[in-house]
Amino acid sequence: MEIKTYRFPPHGDDRGQLVALEALEDIPFEIKRVYYIYDTLPDVVRGKHAHRCLEQILICVHGSCKVALEDGQTRQEICLDDPTLGLYISNDTWREMYDFSEGAVLLVLASEHYDEADYIREYTKFLEMVQGKREERHL
Ligand code: TYD
Repeated sequence: MEIKTYRFPPHGDDRGQLVALEALEDIPFEIKRVYYIYDTLPDVVRGKHAHRCLEQILICVHGSCKVALEDGQTRQEICLDDPTLGLYISNDTWREMYDFSEGAVLLVLASEHYDEADYIREYTKFLEMVQGKREERHL
């Protein structure tokens, strides 16, 4: 599995920095939802799910956190520690977010509205689903 990241150009000047993100320009999908995770307690692991259809971009706009991604065969970890760094997460990808620094704010841009039916929250079900799709592709 390849981790896909984006580098967003900051519009810096002598006042500071600003990053602007436009749907279908900087972000590869139409943004239908934005949420952010903050005040995360030490040793917390968030996420632990995959989505059937949803695509997301994660940006740690303050502080840092780690994200592990799994496609059912490999697991990769990335540290988000820069507000110009975006992590793309496709559908059918198991994600876990952890090691949040104190005060970290994780911004998430999502391609769809919130839909609990789109979640796969059981790891064994996730593995069955991606394995099933892999077998279908090889038929
Ligand atoms: P949860 O899915 O547990 O967050 P994470 O997977 O990132 O650890 O979401 C926490 C709560 O927030 C849960 O009650 C569902 C709710 N929620 C919404 O209402 N809308 C949303 O867009 C999201 C992401 C969560």
